[in-house]
Amino acid sequence: MKMKNAKILDACCGGKMFYFNKDDDRVLFQDIRQFETTLCDGRKFEIKPDIQADFTDMPYPDESFLMVVFDPPHLTTKSDGWQKIKYGALDKDWRDMLAKGFAECFRVLKRGGFLIFKWNETDIKVSEILKLTPEKPIFGHISGKRANTHWMCFIKEKSIENECDK
Ligand SMILES: C[S@@+](CC[C@H](N)C(=O)[O-])C[C@H]1O[C@@H](n2cnc3c(N)ncnc32)[C@H](O)[C@@H]1O
Repeated sequence: MKMKNAKILDACCGGKMFYFNKDDDRVLFQDIRQFETTLCDGRKFEIKPDIQADFTDMPYPDESFLMVVFDPPHLTTKSDGWQKIKYGALDKDWRDMLAKGFAECFRVLKRGGFLIFKWNETDIKVSEILKLTPEKPIFGHISGKRANTHWMCFIKEKSIENECDK
């Protein structure tokens, strides 16, 4: 495991496709998978996280990061092929998995820190996903060729330790 003193956690970095620098020291890259393969078009694809861990049960103390990036799998298992290799897939327990993922992201986020969430609506509407966390996004943006990729920003306002904040 590569040790870093990063202020930002990417909870499921995959192939780090939206990063300008895939070795950015400011980011701790986490993913549950680690592998290297060749895609059908001949291009190499790799998932090479700093730490191989599960976003439903993360190995960090509470309030560790200023920012958490959360771009979980969005395809159900009916999808197949290169997309599944690149993005992973959801199984029938996806609601439970993503609810735990959100809860863990907010747990490891410092108070006043930001969660950047990305969701592609190919299989599941973003409105269904937002039901899985009590937190409300501040703002968002829709992008992608089919205008079905949502980017959202949340803030952690309350400390999980301080009941008076609630
Ligand atoms: C949509 S992809 C991330 C794409 C990435 N943001 C990029 O820029 O390339 C989702 C990633 O979540 C990972 N993943 C799935 N379940 C996970 C879990 N329980 N914990 C951590 N990572 C997980 C998958 O291995 C996959 O790489």
